Amino acid sequence: MAELIWDGKYDKAGRKTAPLRVALPFQDVETVNESRQERLKGLLDFSQGRKAEWRNRLIWGDKKYVLPSLLPEFAGKVNLIYIDPPFDTGADFSFTATLPDLPETDEDDSASFTKEPSIIEQKAYRDTWGKGLDSYLEWFHHTVVLLHECLAESGSLYVHLDWHVSFYAKAVLDEVFGVDRFQSEIIWKRKDSNKAGTTLAVVTDTILFYSKGEKPTWVPQFLPYSEERLRKAYGNVDDSGRRYALSDLMAPGDRKGTKADYEWKGVRPRSGRHWSYTIEKMRQLEAEGRIFWNSAGIPKLKVYLDEQEGVPLANLWQDIPMVKGGKEAVTFPTQKPEALLERIIKASSNEGDLVLDCFCGSGTTAVVAEKLGRRWIACDLSRFAIHTTRKRLLQIEGVRPFVVQNLGKYERQAWQAGEFGVRSAECGVRSEEEGTANRANQANGAEEGKRTSKAGDGMGNEEMPAKHAEDAKGSEIVGGGSVPREEREEKTRGTEAPPTTEAPPTNGAEVQRAYTEFILKLYHAKPVQGYSWLHGVREGRMVHVGTVDAPVSLSDVRSIAAEFRKAVGTGQDAPTTNAVDVLGWEFAFEINEMAKQQAAAAKIQMRFLRIPRDVMDPRAVEQGDIKFFELAALSVATKVEKRKATLALTDFVIPPDDVSEEVRRAVRHWEQWVDYWAVDWDFKGDTFHNEWQTYRTRRSKGLEKEASHTYEAPGDYTVVVKVIDILGNDTTKALKVKVR
Ligand SMILES: C[S@@+](CC[C@H](N)C(=O)[O-])C[C@H]1O[C@@H](n2cnc3c(N)ncnc32)[C@H](O)[C@@H]1O
Repeated sequence: MAELIWDGKYDKAGRKTAPLRVALPFQDVETVNESRQERLKGLLDFSQGRKAEWRNRLIWGDKKYVLPSLLPEFAGKVNLIYIDPPFDTGADFSFTATLPDLPETDEDDSASFTKEPSIIEQKAYRDTWGKGLDSYLEWFHHTVVLLHECLAESGSLYVHLDWHVSFYAKAVLDEVFGVDRFQSEIIWKRKDSNKAGTTLAVVTDTILFYSKGEKPTWVPQFLPYSEERLRKAYGNVDDSGRRYALSDLMAPGDRKGTKADYEWKGVRPRSGRHWSYTIEKMRQLEAEGRIFWNSAGIPKLKVYLDEQEGVPLANLWQDIPMVKGGKEAVTFPTQKPEALLERIIKASSNEGDLVLDCFCGSGTTAVVAEKLGRRWIACDLSRFAIHTTRKRLLQIEGVRPFVVQNLGKYERQAWQAGEFGVRSAECGVRSEEEGTANRANQANGAEEGKRTSKAGDGMGNEEMPAKHAEDAKGSEIVGGGSVPREEREEKTRGTEAPPTTEAPPTNGAEVQRAYTEFILKLYHAKPVQGYSWLHGVREGRMVHVGTVDAPVSLSDVRSIAAEFRKAVGTGQDAPTTNAVDVLGWEFAFEINEMAKQQAAAAKIQMRFLRIPRDVMDPRAVEQGDIKFFELAALSVATKVEKRKATLALTDFVIPPDDVSEEVRRAVRHWEQWVDYWAVDWDFKGDTFHNEWQTYRTRRSKGLEKEASHTYEAPGDYTVVVKVIDILGNDTTKALKVKVR
């Protein structure tokens, strides 16, 4: 078989490079439309041996980590995959954010602006296109290898592309699936050509359709007849008003002497033809009034329009326009029409089947799968895409509860292990206890167990983790490396590079020290010695570096404050101001206010800054442009009357993250930053259960001001409010509510 070769396809030993295969556990960030009680019931069923109820999954993460992490549970179980990967060197990660109008004002304050890709999105873009078509093909090849493993034997893959890469992709897919598993090349006409250019206008996309096994699920689909066909073929109407076409009762071929050769009502088939039906069937058709005699005295079969399914679906799809405004549009540049996905999902799956899309964008696949009663898993690297998908799903009447997941701390652990050197087998699978021990070790060689705080829950202000596998030396299990074409050894071609699992093991304290120093350097702080909780100093402010595997908690803050007070006036690395910067990947909900209050009571000025996931990108690190931003601050007013609690947002301040000064100036009121807010009325310290939400859509631009809930029983409850801003970032806040 002819083979497509690209730079990087084979390693030095001539073995095909293989995708990253580290399976990291998923963390539930949020359950949507499901109360804690319902969720607990499902989990209880599971623990009692009953099958836990399936939850659809919206996963925020790079497919490079998400796909291998899905394999342990889903290898061979996915019935249908549709992907619409980036296939042009266009700006796949920039999006148009909308600054909403303020309803109270007469002026129109609404505006839209382009949100440029974050550094980590640029990184993903470089993974894909950094070395042009060569890197794209490697990226694509690794993707389809994993997708092939996900598919059930009767499953199918649809890959949506266009002329830029479709011909190369076909060769890659043939190699992974086998040429004989190619089912069809669908040509989708997106639009009409309306302007003459210097060459032919491109109005089509290509969808390559492959099956895993020999007998894929296939449910025939039909299109309605065209007006012209109806007019020409179904022009006859019988006495009862039914439209019909006339079809020949004779078929080509001589069948002399068989049951197809007889005289019927004085008519015999012409030479070279025979009756299509036996004489018994002809009698039956006649009795049913389905035979029509034409003016030449030849009987014809009446084919009723209302008994026809339509035109069988072929591979040329011209009847589905692209999304351009209208009620489906969600301001997502590459949004695909629901009708397109509906056709694919109906043809290649049955109700209850599992549908996967690892480049879900605005969520079209998940939305259609949900509407058609399929189970689904949707993933995207962009948090704006995840947020857009969540809002679209919520607008479906009767949407089933779903979970929002990411790889959170596990991905960071994998990064830390790879970057600072522990055995890759440990990556990302450390237990909560080990995480706690790690934190204890972190502080400048402090003895184990000194620090204790609850392990992370993957919530709060967490940045989306995305990790460069090739840099996580220890965590990449299957190795690669690119060699020039001419050096490749023919004899080993075709074999896959074996797993490499060894990386230099070092002790946990050393890893933590190296990690802490790395973060301090990026923060332009100088390490300090002799403390457990204070790690560095910058411009007179002491600096604490949070661990990768747990949010900075209130008890951490107390320990930082206590150590700070003890350290004052003790000599060399003692604090020279009353200020501390606390750097963390995640922060416990209550941190911003309660911790600040506690610190203020101890006369310490504490700032909380998020460690951006950009630190995991070596290029960003090289460029030295890592920015640490303060947490967004949310103010919420609560009112409790008997068992009824009412909440209202009263202020929201976002950090100057990646929003231009121009946009900031355009914001006249804090409410304009808020795109969505949701409430968990009974938070128990684990997953956020989204039980109520309000959000803006293209049509309904306002937000509800208040949320109320009536509790069934008196008690003390923790309520968590989650705000998602117009850029897709989350901010959460926990409140205590006492009902009588
Ligand atoms: C062409 S869009 C998909 C549009 C989608 N079919 C729809 O109807 O809205 C491609 C998506 O792939 C996502 N993406 C690109 N690289 C990715 C990666 N490595 N992992 C996960 N998602 C990725 C982008 O964020 C983008 O949302």
